[in-house]
Amino acid sequence: MAGRTMHAVQYDGYGGGAAGLKHVEIQVPSPKTDEVLLRVEAASINPIDWKIQKGAIRPLLPPKFPFVPVTDVAGEVVEVGPGVHSFKPGDKVVSMLNFRNAGGLAEYAVASVNMTVDRPPEVSAAEGASLPIAALTALQALRYSGTKFDGTGQPGNVLITAASGGVGSFTVQLAKLGNLHVTATCGARNIDLVKRLGADEVLDYKTPEGKSLSSPSGRKYDVVIHCTEGISWSTFEPNLAAHGVVIDLTPTPWTWFRSVVKRLTFAKKKLVPLLFTQDKEDLRFLVQLVRDGKLTTVLDSRHQLSEAAAAWAKSVEGHATGKIILEMGE
Ligand SMILES: NC(=O)c1ccc[n+]([C@@H]2O[C@H](COP(=O)([O-])OP(=O)(O)OC[C@H]3O[C@@H](n4cnc5c(N)ncnc54)[C@H](OP(=O)(O)O)[C@@H]3O)[C@@H](O)[C@H]2O)c1
Repeated sequence: MAGRTMHAVQYDGYGGGAAGLKHVEIQVPSPKTDEVLLRVEAASINPIDWKIQKGAIRPLLPPKFPFVPVTDVAGEVVEVGPGVHSFKPGDKVVSMLNFRNAGGLAEYAVASVNMTVDRPPEVSAAEGASLPIAALTALQALRYSGTKFDGTGQPGNVLITAASGGVGSFTVQLAKLGNLHVTATCGARNIDLVKRLGADEVLDYKTPEGKSLSSPSGRKYDVVIHCTEGISWSTFEPNLAAHGVVIDLTPTPWTWFRSVVKRLTFAKKKLVPLLFTQDKEDLRFLVQLVRDGKLTTVLDSRHQLSEAAAAWAKSVEGHATGKIILEMGE
């Protein structure tokens, strides 16, 4: 495809939000040795995408402008690099693109084989694209706390905050696969949905009970998977079991400091800031769970690439129910 151009959406500098996105015609990228070129069928937006645009990780990301954002994609292999033997043109896949290169908001993107897995026919492009960041984070946060997903998981009590979001909606389902009793928080409009995902009890986060995080059935939490911002340790602490742990997916510098202090003082109740890692086997496992009907994607909304700004704005507002998907069409 060398020399061909494609439609893409990029931004030219930090800030600007949805208004900073520009529709452009650029060169189709070429796959390097261990990369595949994908015709992107669907991509999903994660908060990290617009946080990078805001400059939260400057000067590391993005490494240069203009930058085509979004890492989570599903598509079809159209070309393979010279060192690739595990994929061929025509293969349907799910990929997480490299943060430094990104490129998901485009008709074509290059993906490393290290973060590309086969997508069986039972898994739609939208479902596949929804998985990488959100579901990997959910899986790894639960696994960190000792959860097993093969039916041998020990019972325990977990609190999942923002259970209606991209990460939270996967965490609820995976926690149930791990035999955990799930208490979840979300807004009133999503209580029924979060119950359908498997939560045993649900708190409306805007009510006094929701703000206190206390379990309606009086349980103390062995684990909290914290998927939103703005809840202090003093709110979590009285709700934790004696050796309870809060896994904080939105850590601030204060979280890191406090977690170190707790470790150094051998505190029984722990605070763990956690960042997901790119793991191909985990991604393959998640795709298989979707194939087997054990994990479903809550789709907030589906947009065409021409509507990228609206999709981006929706994510920035912070009120998505599940995943925001862009579809590139045939
Ligand atoms: N550590 C990591 O490796 C990692 C990985 C992925 C994501 N993250 C971070 O995790 C956070 C969640 O990501 P996401 O993709 O799930 O975001 P998201 O899909 O945008 O989350 C939106 C959802 O959060 C709910 N919500 C907001 N504030 C809430 C609160 N105080 N209590 C309960 N629910 C609340 C919203 O409900 P309403 O609409 O009702 O307000 C909405 O349904 C983001 O900050 C993201 O950057 C971290």
